[in-house]
Amino acid sequence: MDSLESLFSLRGHRALVTGASSGLGVECAKALALAGADVALIARRGDRVVALAKELAKSHGVKTIGIGADVTIDADLDRVMADATAALGDIDILVNNAGVSPTGRAERFKREDWDNAIAVNLTAPMMLSQRVASRLIETKQPGRIINMASIYATVASAIYRLSAYAATKAALANLTRQLAVEWAGYNILVNAIAPGWIPTEATEGGIAKSANRERMETFTPMKRLGTPEEIRGAVIFLASPASSYVTGTLLSVDGGYQAW
Ligand SMILES: NC(=O)c1ccc[n+]([C@@H]2O[C@H](COP(=O)([O-])OP(=O)(O)OC[C@H]3O[C@@H](n4cnc5c(N)ncnc54)[C@H](OP(=O)(O)O)[C@@H]3O)[C@@H](O)[C@H]2O)c1
Repeated sequence: MDSLESLFSLRGHRALVTGASSGLGVECAKALALAGADVALIARRGDRVVALAKELAKSHGVKTIGIGADVTIDADLDRVMADATAALGDIDILVNNAGVSPTGRAERFKREDWDNAIAVNLTAPMMLSQRVASRLIETKQPGRIINMASIYATVASAIYRLSAYAATKAALANLTRQLAVEWAGYNILVNAIAPGWIPTEATEGGIAKSANRERMETFTPMKRLGTPEEIRGAVIFLASPASSYVTGTLLSVDGGYQAW
């Protein structure tokens, strides 16, 4: 590797990003396309992923497809794999980004919110990872899986009531380690990203309350929230040759939040 291009280029790779209709998923998709990967984008709001797919094809000259799908429905996942593979070829980079963050007091937390958080934040990453990895193992190809965890994979929140979120993100972090160990021999590297609070559709409601924002900023060593664009470097790193000996890790993008 004697050039910056060879360290970070994703040209010739085919990535699938879930939850690419807003927030961090859009940034992951943009980062992967910028690095040269062909990208398949999925979310329930199919109009948004189709529009982003067209935009990225035009701006970066990569192959793209946008697919409307619900990651909690197995039949949708099968359709996504079939359509993405038909359009791009076998997927070798998977970004499990789709997520939900229901809030509510633990003593009254709604069962349906709990079940949906487990389905979207934990079960869907496992089901998609299985589908991608089994094909890579069968064809003896290397690959990358990147799971979008959270600072609340390692610590609890004193500001927000996030029992289902904290539980599922912690489980996703340890699922990341387990898959990394099981699939290391196939050169399928599995890592997670742990972002701090970044204003997006999911967080702007809670963060918009200035008291919450101030508290988050106070307890973040860098004294500010992140921006969605600041997720791009971590995604490119974990998808690229630059991280060829990195697996089973949780990469924090949190302004130092978990450091104290
Ligand atoms: N923003 C932060 O501060 C922060 C911090 C740490 C971790 N994260 C994590 O980053 C990821 C993205 O969050 P975000 O902040 O960008 O939130 P967001 O803007 O609300 O994006 C969430 C994405 O998940 C998709 N999604 C939700 N349920 C789905 C389902 N059943 N099937 C398919 N897609 C589904 C949504 O698409 P549709 O509604 O169109 O289906 C949307 O694209 C999440 O995993 C979140 O936990 C965010």
